[in-house]
Amino acid sequence: MNLTFRQLKVFESVVRHLNYTNAAKELHLSQPAVSMQIKQLEEQTNMPLIEKIGKKLYLTEVGQEMYNYARSTLQQLLDLEETIAQMKTLQQGHLKLAVASTANHFVIRLLARFAKDYPKISISLDVTNRSLLLELLEKNECDLVIMGRPPEGRNLTALPFLENPLVVVSYPDHYLAKKKLVSLQELSLEEFVVREQGSGTRSAAERFFSDHNLEFKTKMDMSNNHAIKHAAEEGLGLAIVSLHTLELELKAKTLKIVNAEGFPIYRHWYVVQREGKRLSPIATVFKDFIMQRTDQIIQDFNIPLRATI
Ligand code: PGA
Repeated sequence: MNLTFRQLKVFESVVRHLNYTNAAKELHLSQPAVSMQIKQLEEQTNMPLIEKIGKKLYLTEVGQEMYNYARSTLQQLLDLEETIAQMKTLQQGHLKLAVASTANHFVIRLLARFAKDYPKISISLDVTNRSLLLELLEKNECDLVIMGRPPEGRNLTALPFLENPLVVVSYPDHYLAKKKLVSLQELSLEEFVVREQGSGTRSAAERFFSDHNLEFKTKMDMSNNHAIKHAAEEGLGLAIVSLHTLELELKAKTLKIVNAEGFPIYRHWYVVQREGKRLSPIATVFKDFIMQRTDQIIQDFNIPLRATI
């Protein structure tokens, strides 16, 4: 069968009114046009749908079935229109975000503000490392990603929106934490606790040491920033972490920033999407929100932005 929505709409109206003239009026059509649509529908089904006995219209048995399906199909179409309208006006929708583990520390604050402005929106957040984020983008499994600068040649669009300073930290009594300035030579004699392979923080640190032709002595790797910071507090090694992850430890003075030559390493946070991705209305609004509101929100929460040693 090759039915059209128009035929179903005309049929539903005729049956509701049990009258061709009234249906034609409701649909702003001529009566012959209405009769033609019904005739075409009957040709499609190859069965009579409406019968006229005396002056009255009646539904045949097949006509009754057609009417039931026509009503539910048209209702679904109305529901779809309503859903689209709500998505356009941000009354509903789902935002699928993925962020680097390190960015998670401030992204949750951004989301808390955003969710207040758009309470009807649902959000899912995937927190993982850089290489897995690139996979998610490749598979088109999220709307937007927040991460360090993505590599070239992957058909991604990336907008920078915040600095990400990486600093060296140690427990407060470490002898290097007490020095005014730690040279690169001194730093290269130390052992570090580092993030797992695939982490952007780790590759930035590796690049820093290799650019300076220095050895980067790594003692242990760990898959999240909490573990790394804890390890540094316990003296398992020095650590290189984003300043954005240090809010609590700096306040509680359980970690200290080591004033090392060449640090902070300044990376940036980017909001990233696939080229050609057609963002939903809510994802578009969230992207604008990140670009415009991040600085203010970070200041409101006193998240450290600059290294004060
Ligand atoms: P992370 O950070 O993968 O080390 O959590 C992301 C980045 O700096 O690119």
